[in-house]
Amino acid sequence: MSQLAWTHAHESLLWTGKRGSHHTFNYDLINSRNPKAQVSSVWSIPSVPQTEKLYGYHPTQKPLRLVRRAIVASSREGDLIFDPFCGSGTTGVAAKELGRFFVGVEKEQEYAELAARRIGAAVRGGVLGELSGGENA
Ligand SMILES: C[S@@+](CC[C@H](N)C(=O)[O-])C[C@H]1O[C@@H](n2cnc3c(N)ncnc32)[C@H](O)[C@@H]1O
Repeated sequence: MSQLAWTHAHESLLWTGKRGSHHTFNYDLINSRNPKAQVSSVWSIPSVPQTEKLYGYHPTQKPLRLVRRAIVASSREGDLIFDPFCGSGTTGVAAKELGRFFVGVEKEQEYAELAARRIGAAVRGGVLGELSGGENA
């Protein structure tokens, strides 16, 4: 059999809620400024840049742009974001950048430590940004 295959280039996001629950959908925050445009269910986002891999390696690390967009679309500042498969901590980094609380679970110690390094750096970056009046934010 040939070793050739389609290059994996997409992820599926599930968007669900309890029956009857109210969910946050910040449509206006993620839609284009063009009033005739409508948010698409297909998001084109480049793979993880090297600048997001400074703290260590995880085989399936997600791009911050992707996770930031999902968080902005589906939560408000001060909300709690939970990621039960935290990996390299991308969700935690995005949550802290965007003023959300974060709880993550990761079963591999190596990845939990990587996530802690990344999230710690995001928190320190936010604090430094506040101290310098936003210049480092
Ligand atoms: C697809 S990766 C998550 C990648 C993450 N979004 C990122 O950007 O780095 C899934 C992670 O879940 C972890 N995992 C798998 N089963 C788990 C479990 N039962 N409890 C906690 N973590 C688990 C794996 O070790 C892996 O790091």
